[in-house]
Amino acid sequence: MLPLHVRNILPFGSVWNPLIVLRQLSSSPVQSFPKEVKVVEVGPRDGLQNEKTVVPTEVKIHLIDMLSEAGLQVVEATSFVSPKWVPQMADHINVMLGIKKYLNVNYPVLTPNLTGFQAAVKCGAREVAIFGAASELFSKKNINCSIEESLERFNAVTAAAKEANIPVRGYVSCVLGCPYEGKVAPSKVAEVAYKMFSMGCYEISLGDTIGVGTPGSMRDMLNAVLDVVPAKALAVHCHDTYGQALANILVALQMGVQVVDSSVAGLGGCPYAQGASGNVATEDVVYMLHGLGIQTGVDINKLMQAGAFICKALGKKSNSKVAQAMSKL
Ligand code: HMG
Ligand code: MG
Repeated sequence: MLPLHVRNILPFGSVWNPLIVLRQLSSSPVQSFPKEVKVVEVGPRDGLQNEKTVVPTEVKIHLIDMLSEAGLQVVEATSFVSPKWVPQMADHINVMLGIKKYLNVNYPVLTPNLTGFQAAVKCGAREVAIFGAASELFSKKNINCSIEESLERFNAVTAAAKEANIPVRGYVSCVLGCPYEGKVAPSKVAEVAYKMFSMGCYEISLGDTIGVGTPGSMRDMLNAVLDVVPAKALAVHCHDTYGQALANILVALQMGVQVVDSSVAGLGGCPYAQGASGNVATEDVVYMLHGLGIQTGVDINKLMQAGAFICKALGKKSNSKVAQAMSKL
């Protein structure tokens, strides 16, 4: 049997030929791009969690409704984490109760443990996300436990979610580098991703938490992960600290990934990864995808309006290059 990552790039029905495989691996042909990509908007959660001044709940709700209007299929709404750890997400109940909840939009929320899961379900969450890491020190700083302990907690969440028929998304942070440990081995990322996939996560989002990855390290990491988790169950989540996010996403798409996380106006960062900038801007991702002829269902003009709204509310300039360029037209 061919390794999964090789099978993913071989045209359907092709006969095994090392030369074809080598050519596919080195040139990553344009025909390997997917026809459709699901964009997971993480701005209301990842984008806002790091804001120093508390963003009013009504602003968060209006932002989520505008993003839903813009045609995004998934808008990550908030986190059911400790308000002592992330004060910005302390209004999670009111956010969940206040949003319009469009029928065709999923609103996953972060739940690090059973406490968070139960609170989320109580106020109507129909999808949750657990968040682990491929780095021990980051796990400790972010969720106050080792990777092993986090997997035990996640097992409890996925078991409860299965019983309640609630889909669970799984994040693996620090897949291309850690703010405390530096380099992270692709094999470690693959190990954690596999464990989270095996416990029932329908999708594994691979987080370049501090945005240090390059197309080369993204390719190497994905090669390891694709050996154990199918491309259809993977997402990439790129912060854009070193300006490599779009290039990294392009590589991921060429390797069969069809889900991309991004944040409107490029907002965000992780409170436990100092110096990391925001996620890649949704406007920039959508512009690139549409330029490749890939469908997203997103109306870029409505998305730009959501970006302008939140930037005005925060008193910030958009980090989206596309928004900056289009606002001058
Ligand atoms: P802990 O202190 O070890 O928890 O924190 P504990 O179980 O010992 O409980 C301590 C207190 O927290 C208790 O309250 C619990 O009830 C409460 P007290 O008795 O002191 O009043 N508690 C909770 N409260 C609300 N919601 C909960 C919850 N659980 C316990 N779910 C914990 C452990 C995981 C809770 C904490 O470390 C935490 O909240 N961490 C969250 C960190 C976070 O949100 N980071 C940002 C998101 S991750 C990210 O941004 C990366 C990502 O974008 C991908 C990428 O970019 O790589 C996803
Ligand atoms: Mg993130």
